Amino acid sequence: MQSLTRSFLSIGDLSKEEIIRFLDMAALFKEASPGPILKGKIMASCFFEPSTRTRLSFEAAMKSLGGDVIGFSESATTSASKGESLYDTMKIVGGYSDVIILRHPKEGAAQLASEATTTPIINAGDGSNEHPSQTLLDLFTIRETQGRLEGLKIAWVGDLLYGRTVHSLARAAALFDMRMYFIAPEGLDIPTELKRELKSKSALFSFHRDVKEVVDEFDILYVTRMQKERHRSQSEGKYIITPEVLKGAKETAKVLHPLPRVDEIDRS
Ligand code: NCD
Repeated sequence: MQSLTRSFLSIGDLSKEEIIRFLDMAALFKEASPGPILKGKIMASCFFEPSTRTRLSFEAAMKSLGGDVIGFSESATTSASKGESLYDTMKIVGGYSDVIILRHPKEGAAQLASEATTTPIINAGDGSNEHPSQTLLDLFTIRETQGRLEGLKIAWVGDLLYGRTVHSLARAAALFDMRMYFIAPEGLDIPTELKRELKSKSALFSFHRDVKEVVDEFDILYVTRMQKERHRSQSEGKYIITPEVLKGAKETAKVLHPLPRVDEIDRS
């Protein structure tokens, strides 16, 4: 059994081979639960930012593998509200637990936490930077629906500047030689640094303002909400995915969303 004895801060912390091994392991676990393999282990679930699925799925996973969970879902009930630094909180929580799941509004928070404790940190979202655990499940779903990862065509639409799930998944997509299309309103294209990184890896990508421009190309359309809580500008979302927008898409194309969905995908 492969075990994580180091932190998982960015999707770049895993090699392509490690990612594939995790996906294969998840597929086995989906077939049949491995039972209480984490009995006696404690997971600290530290959420300084709102979450529904990420927190509950980590906690449910830990419990179904026989482990225990401690933690909090808002910083107001912790000593952070008395002015304690993240560094100090993580140093202490690390002493109580075998792994820490951290979500925090500041970019780089997971990195800082990993410097405070030797207990492995799993980054469950640090500001607008990364969300690598979401990427593993995105890749799992993509592989399950398309039968492969290598060489697929993937388009992202929405707030690509602040959407952390986009940043992590794009880094992984480069590993699997996916063709990438970034569709965003002006001012919300992917960050310059990510653009530079993808270029340095010789990834194939292009920028668009309208889904229609690439509708017959993509295998996956990854939709994201406007990250209003992170915007310094007041950019409004303008993409709503309807059956009309998807006219001409491949039969096998799938629409993914990391959720929460606000109004980007029409109910129909
Ligand atoms: C995302 C997040 O928190 O980054 N949700 C998730 O964890 N699946 C997406 C979002 O908030 O828009």
